[in-house]
Order: sequence, then structure tokens, then C-alpha cells
Amino acid sequence: MARAPTRAARRKAAPPTKAPKGADRPTPPGLPLGRSGRFHPPYGLGLWALGRWTKEDEARTRSSLDRALERNVPWLDTAEVYGTGRSERMLGDVLALRAEGAPRPFLTTKVSWEHLRAAQVRASIQGSLQRLGRSSVDVYLVHAPDPHVPIAETMGAMEELWKAGKIGAIGVSNFTVPQLEAAQAALKEAEIVVNQIRFNLLDRAEATPIARYCREHRIVLEAYTPLARGLLTGRYLGREKPSAEVRRYAHSMFEADRFAELQGTARKLRDLADEAKVPLPSIALHWLARQGVAPVFGASRPEQVDAVVEAWAIRPADAVLDRAEAIAGGRVA
Ligand SMILES: NC(=O)c1ccc[n+]([C@@H]2O[C@H](COP(=O)([O-])OP(=O)(O)OC[C@H]3O[C@@H](n4cnc5c(N)ncnc54)[C@H](OP(=O)(O)O)[C@@H]3O)[C@@H](O)[C@H]2O)c1
Repeated sequence: MARAPTRAARRKAAPPTKAPKGADRPTPPGLPLGRSGRFHPPYGLGLWALGRWTKEDEARTRSSLDRALERNVPWLDTAEVYGTGRSERMLGDVLALRAEGAPRPFLTTKVSWEHLRAAQVRASIQGSLQRLGRSSVDVYLVHAPDPHVPIAETMGAMEELWKAGKIGAIGVSNFTVPQLEAAQAALKEAEIVVNQIRFNLLDRAEATPIARYCREHRIVLEAYTPLARGLLTGRYLGREKPSAEVRRYAHSMFEADRFAELQGTARKLRDLADEAKVPLPSIALHWLARQGVAPVFGASRPEQVDAVVEAWAIRPADAVLDRAEAIAGGRVA
């Protein structure tokens, strides 16, 4: 009677199973946050409702936030200036209602460019922590530089807050390379771990050298407006026109001549997405992520959060992202 093969023999006889490419590499928990040994989540939701903050806008932003928490969006970004504190307060209220043990999102908030004197920085963090209902935030960012306040004064105050444990790390936003260098030089022990700037497939000329610098200096680059205010979801390519408000807050992107050119590029990207059978926002977000950049998207409705979370889960092939790069760089007719 034939004996059943031993387990070792079975293993030897079995054809080698080929793991899908990359399957043996664990997904990193995010981007290394300076020398801290901690990680920055790879993407997140921003809680700015343009300049509006009407009751309806606030209710819609709140339902987007609820949906983002349900769907475990790992990072939430706000600022003291968003709705003059309303965004932080709303976030604090929502987090306070979370069940014990629910995953804690990574939190970033910002001190206004109008509050960069040392005493103002100290007062601003107190206000933010109070509204957020927290004893600290993961990263506290200088929202934008103020040429009238010496960067050393602001950074000295930020370092004090870091030493006191009120902020987990120091970040900046809308800083150029020379401004980043000056900010880092002003710190004695702490490091700049984040710079948040506008960066997307359609608006990348100014951001590209900053992105290179941040990569070389292990600074996490957070990209705001990653969906070009909806243009990179395929919106505004048909009959829908951007509202005056969207145009106002989209900087030069939606100005007449430039907008027509960007629409042309967005159409090519949409055709690429259709051909590759992936959502256009997957290309927009993963084009950034592939460069080690963390996109922070906006959403004024829960359905937009769903669409972005689902798009994030689809990583287009490198060849598709290479083609997107060529289209955005004007190298495809
Ligand atoms: N540091 C800074 O100076 C700075 C400046 C700007 C922004 N930020 C941060 O970055 C975050 C995101 O900025 P952003 O709002 O400009 O980013 P964005 O992601 O490029 O644009 C968000 C807008 O795109 C539209 N949208 C999103 N998903 C959509 C979908 N699936 N289908 C159709 N339309 C969709 C929505 O427009 P509608 O609401 O019009 O429908 C949404 O409000 C802000 O909340 C803020 O936290 C920082």
C-alpha cells in the first residue's frame, strides 16, 4: 500500500508559489517623521470649507468629517484660521464623541501668519488645544511666513512648545527652500518635519524644487489642493463651471487662459484614467504618493470622501503614473 507522502515531501513536490510582485514587502505605516521614529500617515482630509462657513457648509463639512472617521482616514488637518476657530471646534466636538478605543487620527493644526510673535504663538496653541479638546497635537505648523516677524522669534516659541510637550513636532506651510533653511537654522534641538504646500499634477512648477529639497532633508511634504479643487476628479470638463468662490480660492489655476490650458491637460489625464480603468483621483493622489508626498484632500460632502477613499485604495501601475507625469509635463501632444 502506498504511504501518504510526508509533509516535507509534499512541500518539495509542490510547485513554487510565486508571490505577486511586492507582496512580501509590508506596507509601511506612513512616511518617517524626521528622527522621531514616528510616522506621518500617507494621506488625509483637510477641514477647510473655503472661506464660507455658512451653517449649511459647516453641516456638510461635519458630515464629511464623520464619514472620514467612519472610513478610517488616518490624518485630519485644520488651522486656527479655518472659520476663525470653527473648524478646530467642530473637530474637537466630533472627536469627543468617539467611542473609547476608536482609532485616533493623526492631527495637524496651524498657527496663523498673523500670530507669529512669540507671545502670540503661545496664545494660539492654547486656543487650538482648547478647541480641539486635546493636550497636544501631532504636528503644529506655521501656516505661512510673515516677512515682518523674524523667523528666529517664531521658531524659538515653537521649540518651547515642543519641549513642553504641547506639540509632537514642528512643521511649516507655504515655505520656499530659503525659508525652510532659515527656519531650520533657527531651531536649536528640534527639526522641521513637515512643509505643507500646494502641489498637484496641474500645478507643480513652484512645488517641484521644494519637493526635491524636502526629500533630500527628510521633511514630509504635505500636498494641499491635490485634486485641483475638483478638476482632477473630472469636474469642470463638461457643462459645470467653477463657482466664483472656487475660482477665488484656486489662486491662478482657474484664471481664464490658464484654466483652458489646464482643462486640456485634465482631459488627457481623464482619457488616460479611462484607458487604464482607474478613477482619475487615483492617478492624482498616487502621482504624489509615489514621490513620497502626503496629499491632504478637501471634501464638502460625504460622497466625495467615499470617492476619494475608494480612489486612494487603487494604486495605478507605474507605467500609468509615468504617462501621467509625461502628460502633466507637456511631453504628450
Ligand atoms: N496650508 C495652506 O495654506 C492650505 C491652503 C489650502 C488648503 N489647505 C488644506 O488642504 C485641504 C484641501 O485643500 P483643497 O480643498 O484645496 O483640496 P482639493 O482636494 O484639491 O479640493 C477639494 C474640493 O474638490 C472637490 N471634490 C473633492 N472630491 C470630489 C469628488 N469626488 N468629486 C467631485 N468633486 C470633488 C470639492 O469641491 P466642492 O466643495 O466645490 O464640491 C472639494 O471641496 C484643505 O481642507 C486644508 O486643510 C491648506
